[in-house]
Amino acid sequence: MNTPLAELLRRMPKAELHVHIEGTLEPELIFKLARRNGVTLPYANEAALRAAYAFTNLQSFLDLYYAGASVLLKEQDFYDMAWAYFERAQADGVVRAELFFDPQTHTVRGVPMGTVIEGLSRACADAQTKLGISADLILCFLRHLSEEDAFATLEAALPWRKHFIGVGLDSSEVGHPPEKFARVFARCRELGLHLVAHAGEEGPPAYVWSALDVLKVERIDHGVQSIHDPALMQRLADSRMPLTVCPLSNLKLCVFADLKQHNLRRMLDAAVCVTINSDDPAYFGGYLLDNYLQTFEALQLDAGHARTLAANSLTASFAPEADKRRWLKALDACVDAG
Ligand code: ADE
Ligand code: ZN
Repeated sequence: MNTPLAELLRRMPKAELHVHIEGTLEPELIFKLARRNGVTLPYANEAALRAAYAFTNLQSFLDLYYAGASVLLKEQDFYDMAWAYFERAQADGVVRAELFFDPQTHTVRGVPMGTVIEGLSRACADAQTKLGISADLILCFLRHLSEEDAFATLEAALPWRKHFIGVGLDSSEVGHPPEKFARVFARCRELGLHLVAHAGEEGPPAYVWSALDVLKVERIDHGVQSIHDPALMQRLADSRMPLTVCPLSNLKLCVFADLKQHNLRRMLDAAVCVTINSDDPAYFGGYLLDNYLQTFEALQLDAGHARTLAANSLTASFAPEADKRRWLKALDACVDAG
């Protein structure tokens, strides 16, 4: 790619709206935390663990992702993981980050909810004061577990209500449609939480419809399968419903055989509010800027697309409107400067 475009992609202010903080655990940090906490891993070293990152679908990845998270036990572990992400995000020009976290992955191992949320929340506060990154947390329910479990998780997290801005839905998609979580999402809505859900990553367009109409989400995470349903595409475009698309994730989980076949450009051409995100960057071979660079290269995108994608990410964020206006102005100045 030409250097000025690559430099624009790095410099322009952008938001990351779809990153699982447990998916930013690099093998080096996994082993460091394992040593610190006396956890034994079924891999000899970092290279052996990395060599296992050959995924065939979402489930083959999730099995490793949950195993990797088993080294997280103390408040400082959660802080260190999030801080490592923020340092990378700053280098990539991220001004706003909304981090997903999976409390059930930790509470099932006996880690208290407060340990998880306080460690992550302290890192978010430091991201603002030390790096100038605005950051918030979104609590995700694991959809392969029951709605009853999701309700219990929400209840356990409510003492820390001011530390998270919304809820999401992640984990194994197929066989676990959004409507399974209709009641808990309705409760979260009453509580004034923002609502998002993974839908249409591997699952059918019907899951995107029910995320919209039953869960009443404000953004769709992934949503790339929507392309198979013209009426849904029209709905997404007309409503400016943001999709948090994760190109390198889609590639590594075999949703698309090749980045050149990714439908992100077709979605943009259809006036869908697409954003670019990293999902689980430690596992998928690239943080936010890598996702931009590789997608721009593969799909032959230009500076106009860069402006649109960054503006979409800032507009679709749950940051205060005054911050969004300031970032959008800075984005225009950045693109116009060339
Ligand atoms: N949890 C972490 N990454 C995920 C993904 N890509 N899809 C569903 N759940 C996830
Ligand atoms: Zn995800």
